[in-house]
Amino acid sequence: MHRRQFLTAAALSALAAACSSDPAVDPASPGPEIDFGTPLRVPPLLNPKSGKDGVRRFELSMQAGRTQILAGKRTPTWGFNGAFLGPTLRASRGDKVKMAVRNGLSELSTVHWHGMRLPARMDGGPHQPIEPGAVWMPHWTIDQPAATSWYHPHPHGATAEHVYRGLAGMFILDDDLDLDLPADYGIDDIPLILQDKKFAPDGSFDGDPLKGTFGILGDHILVNGTYNPHLRVTTERVRFRVLNGSNARMYNLAFADKRSFHVIANDGGLLGAPVEVETLSLTPGERVEIIVAFAPGEQVILRTADNGVDIGEGDFDLLKLIAAKQLKPAPAVPARLASPAAITAPAGAKVRRFKLSGHDAINGKAMDMTRIDEVVPAGAVEIWEIENNVYSHNFHIHEVAFQVLEMDGSAPPPYATGHKDTVYVPSKSVVRLAVQFGRYTDPVSPYMYHCHILRHEDSGMMGQFVIVEPGTENQVSLSIPAHIGGH
Ligand code: C2O
Ligand code: CU
Ligand code: CU
Repeated sequence: MHRRQFLTAAALSALAAACSSDPAVDPASPGPEIDFGTPLRVPPLLNPKSGKDGVRRFELSMQAGRTQILAGKRTPTWGFNGAFLGPTLRASRGDKVKMAVRNGLSELSTVHWHGMRLPARMDGGPHQPIEPGAVWMPHWTIDQPAATSWYHPHPHGATAEHVYRGLAGMFILDDDLDLDLPADYGIDDIPLILQDKKFAPDGSFDGDPLKGTFGILGDHILVNGTYNPHLRVTTERVRFRVLNGSNARMYNLAFADKRSFHVIANDGGLLGAPVEVETLSLTPGERVEIIVAFAPGEQVILRTADNGVDIGEGDFDLLKLIAAKQLKPAPAVPARLASPAAITAPAGAKVRRFKLSGHDAINGKAMDMTRIDEVVPAGAVEIWEIENNVYSHNFHIHEVAFQVLEMDGSAPPPYATGHKDTVYVPSKSVVRLAVQFGRYTDPVSPYMYHCHILRHEDSGMMGQFVIVEPGTENQVSLSIPAHIGGH
């Protein structure tokens, strides 16, 4: 007994000594739990070579497991090719890709490629269910600019739960651009998947993603599934690809020392030029790429600040960045990036209006898998106007690229002026979008548009549109079977 106590005391003082010499632990950091003691997990890269037929094959397997997120606890989690979250997929413009998605769960799911321009049958929405034990094999050609997109389940009524349990991953698209940007994955090009959780005392995820106004607004923020994370920075500049993979929470990102940084891309790809900011906000489903400069030996904390908005409440530290004493040189932030063509609606463009009210309907109608809500001619540019009379929502459209024309009468912040697929729709506001639709036609397979607060999406704040050959709009049947299938 005496000996055990002695060992414990010795172990504790050894630990204390180790901690005081470890720069990852800053005794002045706020909150008793936030010690940044855990190295940031970086999802493995899945970047297969193409086969003899020129096709790059990706294999994903949805599975259940357990993950240590909090010290000493094993949380039941779901993941792709592992117990929690999924690998980062990477492909380039022009690549032919083929996915083999196996459902190793005990219930039906789907996998949606959020941000991808592809045929509706490959989209992985609620009409492409994968039964337990089944394999779904969508394929398409990557035909869009470099971007940070992502993938997650989209089963009708159960997206919130599947994502909350851990099914989500990043999908990086490259392009042949003559730009000197940090691009060494895991070194100076780092994914940051932000997700908030609630934990029960036994370590399991707590809270009901389908209860309350917003479902989950957690008090523990994970970055790439890591709680209390730190990252050792080795280069003068780092590109972070930030994905809000949360069920409902909005982040208002800033560094503790209020340093400025550059936004280089949002959902749909690179901006025309970098935009210098000190803070930016990101609602669920949105992505942003930023470049942050570091001085040798410094430490700085990435935070989210309470902005008084219902889904953006609370101040949280997210990640401590610890710069090495010597940093490898990095290219300067380029003055010009890409030139994404402006999405402009022609004179007399079709205007469609969507009214979000409550949390479960658009234009007074709850999502119905058998009802087509909108029929859009291929290649059209239209004005979509989203009106929100209540608390915060956002709006995501599958397959498209859009530009935000107006947010409640004003221009969007400059960092949100590029091509996007998801947009914040503040409480009591109207957001106007110029939406560019693709050219894959299919009169019976719909794409989705919805609020990306998953509690709302699952409760019916979602609608369906098809893209058809121009001139055939009136021949489309507005009633379809519940499952269209995939391929
Ligand atoms: Cu990110 Cu319809 O989803
Ligand atoms: Cu999507
Ligand atoms: Cu909503």
